[in-house]
Amino acid sequence: MKILVTGANGGIGSALVQLAKSRGDYVVGVSRTPSTAHVTYQCDVLEVSCLSRAAAEVGQLDGIAALHGHGDAALWNKGLEELTADDFVEVYKVDVAGAFNVVKAFRKNLKPTSSLVFVSSTPGLVGDVYGLPYAAAKGAIVALVKSLAKILAPVRVNAVAFGPIETRWTQWIAAEEVEEFKSRTLLRRMGTPAEAAEAIYWLLSPASSYVTGQVIVVDGGETLVGLYRPTRSRT
Ligand SMILES: NC(=O)c1ccc[n+]([C@@H]2O[C@H](COP(=O)([O-])OP(=O)(O)OC[C@H]3O[C@@H](n4cnc5c(N)ncnc54)[C@H](OP(=O)(O)O)[C@@H]3O)[C@@H](O)[C@H]2O)c1
Repeated sequence: MKILVTGANGGIGSALVQLAKSRGDYVVGVSRTPSTAHVTYQCDVLEVSCLSRAAAEVGQLDGIAALHGHGDAALWNKGLEELTADDFVEVYKVDVAGAFNVVKAFRKNLKPTSSLVFVSSTPGLVGDVYGLPYAAAKGAIVALVKSLAKILAPVRVNAVAFGPIETRWTQWIAAEEVEEFKSRTLLRRMGTPAEAAEAIYWLLSPASSYVTGQVIVVDGGETLVGLYRPTRSRT
C-alpha cells in the first residue's frame, strides 16, 4: 500500500509508520517535524498550500491516516471556569478543520478502493471531566467521519476511538493519575502505540474492505468501566 500519515512523528503516528514500513508499504509522512516515513512533508495541517504541494507530488494513495492532534497539557488541565471559547476554537481548528484540510488537499489522490482513517477518542463518545475542548473536537470527528463516508463512497472512511494509549501525554499527569487511567480500563493498563497502530492499519488495509462510516473503539474496555470520576469532577 502507499499511505499518507499525518502526525507521522507522534506516538501513534510513528508506530504506524514503523508497522507499515515493516510490512513493505510506502509511507508518506506529514508532520511539522521530520519523521521516519519514506518521505516527510513538513506541513502544518492548517497550511493548505503546503498540503497542496505535497498532494501534487505524492501520486495515488491507498490510504490516509489523519493522526495529528492538538495536544496541550495546559488546555487539558483547565477546568470549566478557566476555559475560554478560544480554547475550543484552537483545538477544533487543528483536530477537525485540519482533518478537513487533509481530505480536501488529497482528495484527487484517492482511488475508489482507498481508505481514510481518523482518530476520535473515548471522551468524544462518552464525555470526560478533563480536556473539554478535546472531548468536543473528538466528538466532531465522529460526525465528520460519518458524513465523509456518505460523501466519498466508495472510498471508505472510518475512525478509531482510542482509550488511553501510552504516548507523550502521560508525562503531563502525575503518576497516580496514570494509575487511575489504567484502572478505568477492564485490562487495567494503557494501550501501546503499536496496538493502536494495528487497529489503524486494519482499517487502512483491504482486510476491512466492507467497513465504512464506523468508529472502532480500541480502549481496553474503558468505555464499559466508565470515564466519569465523581471524586475528580472539575468545575
Ligand atoms: N494517546 C492517546 O491516549 C490518545 C487517545 C485518543 C486519541 N488520541 C489521538 O490520536 C492522535 C495521535 O495521538 P498521539 O498520542 O500519538 O499524540 P502525539 O504524540 O502528540 O502526536 C500528535 C502529532 O500531531 C502533530 N501535530 C500537532 N499539531 C499539528 C498541526 N497543526 N499540523 C500538523 N501536525 C500537527 C504533532 O507532530 P509535529 O509536532 O511533528 O507536527 C504530533 O506529533 C491524536 O489525534 C490524539 O488526539 C490519542
